[in-house]
Amino acid sequence: MVRGDILDREALDGAVRGVDLVSHQAAQLEITRAIDDPIEDLTTNTIGTLNLFAACAKAGVRRVIQATSAGVYGQAVRTPQGEDDHPTDPNWAYGVSKLANEKYAAIMREVHGLEITSLRYGIVYGPREWYGRVLTIFLKRALEREPLIIFGDGEQVRDFVFVGDVVEMHRRCIGDPAALHQVLNVATGQGVTVNRLAELALRVTGREVAVIHEDVAEGATSAHFARRRLPQELRTLVQSPEKACRLLGWEAHTSLEEGLAAEWEWLGRNPGRWTEMSY
Ligand SMILES: NC(=O)c1ccc[n+]([C@@H]2O[C@H](COP(=O)([O-])OP(=O)(O)OC[C@H]3O[C@@H](n4cnc5c(N)ncnc54)[C@H](O)[C@@H]3O)[C@@H](O)[C@H]2O)c1
Repeated sequence: MVRGDILDREALDGAVRGVDLVSHQAAQLEITRAIDDPIEDLTTNTIGTLNLFAACAKAGVRRVIQATSAGVYGQAVRTPQGEDDHPTDPNWAYGVSKLANEKYAAIMREVHGLEITSLRYGIVYGPREWYGRVLTIFLKRALEREPLIIFGDGEQVRDFVFVGDVVEMHRRCIGDPAALHQVLNVATGQGVTVNRLAELALRVTGREVAVIHEDVAEGATSAHFARRRLPQELRTLVQSPEKACRLLGWEAHTSLEEGLAAEWEWLGRNPGRWTEMSY
C-alpha cells in the first residue's frame, strides 16, 4: 500500500514504476464542491489525471483504466444515453473535468501510445458506499426511523448500478483487448424514479416511516435535514449498457432490490460509517 496524492508527481512516479496496469479511481467527486470551487475540481480531477498519464508514459506503463462519469452527459436529450451518440454537455464542473480526462485519453494514445479505457459509471451503490446521495440518505433515515424526504415530485429518473457488477466490468476490461481505447458506460440501462427508490427502500428495510415530498428550490437547503438540493439537477439519467455488452459481454445482474438489501445489511453492521455527509 502506497499512500499518496495524484498532485504529487514524484509520488506518482514511484507508485507506477514496474506495474502492468493502473486503475485510476482517485477523484474529487462531490458535485457541490465542484460547483463551489471548480478550480479545485479541475486541479484534482484533470491535472491529477494528467500527472498520472505522464507518470505512466515515463515509466512505460501502457494500460490504464480510468473512472469518468455519467456526469459528462448533462441533461438527457434522449434515453438510454449512448457513449457515441448522445451529446456530452455537462451541467456541472465535475462533468467537465471528467470529460476532459476522456479527451486527454485519446491524445495520450497518439502521443505516448497509452491504452486507456474510460468507464462512465452510473450511480454506483452498495456496501461501503460513501454517505451523501439519495439512496444512502433513504437508508440512513430508515435506520433512524425518520421520514424519507423527496425533493420535488420524485419523478427524477436515475440509473443505479451495483458495485459488484461494476467490479465485474472492471475485471473484464483488464482481461479483454476489446476494451482498449474505449469509452464505456457502466450502468444498467434501467431508469428508476426517486419515488420508486423510496418504495423499495421501505420494502427492503421493513421500516414504516412516512415519505414526504418537499418543494425545495434547486440550490436551497431542505427544512428537514442539512442537505442542499443540487443546482441544475438532472431530470433523467439512464445510460445504455449496449456497448459494454457488445464488446465485453457485460451486463449488470443485480436488481436494485437485491443491491439495496445488501447495502442495508452492511449498514446494519456498520452504522458508524455514515456520519459526515458528502456531496
Ligand atoms: N460512486 C459513483 O457513483 C461514481 C459515479 C461516477 C463516477 N465515479 C468515479 O469513480 C471513482 C471512484 O469513486 P468512489 O465513488 O469510489 O469514491 P471514493 O470517494 O470512495 O473514491 C475516491 C478516492 O479518491 C481519493 N482522492 C481524492 N483526491 C485525491 C488525490 N488528490 N490524490 C489521491 N487520491 C485522491 C479519495 O481519498 C477517495 O479515496 C471516482 O473517480 C469517481 O469520480 C463514481
